[in-house]
Amino acid sequence: MPPNPILICARSDALRTQLETALSAAGYQWATVPTPADAVAALRSRPADLVVAEGLAASGAIGSMRTASESGTTPVLVVAPARDVEARIAFLEAGADDVIASGFAHSELEGRVMALLIRAGKVRTDENGGSAAGQLVAFFSPKGGVGTTTLAVNSAVLLAGGGTPIRQGAAGSGNGALPASRVLLIDLDLQFGQVATHLNVAPRFDIGGLATDDQAMADPELARSHLTMHSSGLAVLAAPTSPEADQRVTLDALQRIIETLQPSFDQIIVDLGSRLDSRSLWILEQADSHIFVLFPEIASLRATSQLIAYLSETTPLRAHTHLIVNHIFPKALLKTRDIENLLRAKPTAEVPYTEVEMIRSVNEGVPLVMTHPTSPAAAAMRRVAQAIIGVEVERSATARKAQRRGIFGRRR
Ligand SMILES: Nc1ncnc2c1ncn2[C@@H]1O[C@H](COP(=O)(O)OP(=O)(O)O)[C@@H](O)[C@H]1O
Ligand SMILES: [Mg+2]
Repeated sequence: MPPNPILICARSDALRTQLETALSAAGYQWATVPTPADAVAALRSRPADLVVAEGLAASGAIGSMRTASESGTTPVLVVAPARDVEARIAFLEAGADDVIASGFAHSELEGRVMALLIRAGKVRTDENGGSAAGQLVAFFSPKGGVGTTTLAVNSAVLLAGGGTPIRQGAAGSGNGALPASRVLLIDLDLQFGQVATHLNVAPRFDIGGLATDDQAMADPELARSHLTMHSSGLAVLAAPTSPEADQRVTLDALQRIIETLQPSFDQIIVDLGSRLDSRSLWILEQADSHIFVLFPEIASLRATSQLIAYLSETTPLRAHTHLIVNHIFPKALLKTRDIENLLRAKPTAEVPYTEVEMIRSVNEGVPLVMTHPTSPAAAAMRRVAQAIIGVEVERSATARKAQRRGIFGRRR
């Protein structure tokens, strides 16, 4: 993955060092300039994917930095003085795409940077993972109740660009709410799927209806009329409201639905729930990525191992498999090391136990990545979304080397 080049614009040495360290640790290439005028000049000669600017020095020049590059708008993340709400609002009104308070944690900076890059469609992917059109992503857990739907919904919202609160009424905010990629979330937990509940949408149509509409299954536009739009830009194909409709979604119908809708989306996320049948097996077989959710308990780990063994023996797979450990209980009875030993694999992300916020976000139908975008659980969910599009989560060797060689990581 070529890491995204980021331009730091900061006069203060302390902030400059802090940003450089945090961005390096997250695997980004960066260059640093002291003033907004330098930033504009730098962006004209060499575009960056994002500007991170010291707010007080840059407030009058945010607009010029956003539009300096000839190759399109560059999002600007402004660092504002901590606890200064008025300054924060002023920066947003001056055109900043997002604001972070000074004294930020690395994870918060990383999260906001990634959200802006995803929203601007500037996330670079690796050669293998790729975010090719119609990428199919299967969320599955051999045990129910471990957070499969929660993670599928939050990842899908992030990929659709809805992971941070969209600022209201700020100058130049016109495209702030536009989805970064076209994402469809299919609820294939056909008996009692709750994706619509997690998103607080009231679908007029669902997959049960689409699966019996021959014309719509053959016509992308008609098929799209069976989808429900979420405020994040995410499209949803809801589960049937009655469990008996399960039977209507035959394997043949599912294949036709995917084939017809796939070209309209960059990613199709499928919540398969916890049942293996001909339909979920077909999705697993076709998927570019598998996200297997488990919780740190021996039975869940064993079931996951059995699943992986079964799939590798029976199904021709092409997917990247990611294991996500979700702490749905407060006490961690197994250590990460034990989990890795039992699974003989390293989980891609661990989602920490999030007591009230998680339940509340489900009850209210607003995904956690929108209500608490800077929480540790949202950060872990971002790692899941990053893994889906093939972004390296850990600091890349390329970035380290590039920095040592000073390709992009030199101060000017
Ligand atoms: N990290 C977490 N911390 C606390 N509660 C969680 C966490 N992840 C999920 N939950 C809760 O666990 C319950 C089951 O989640 P759900 O996504 O419906 O699981 P599944 O789809 O696997 O059946 C929900 O009430 C959800 O709020
Ligand atoms: Mg579920």
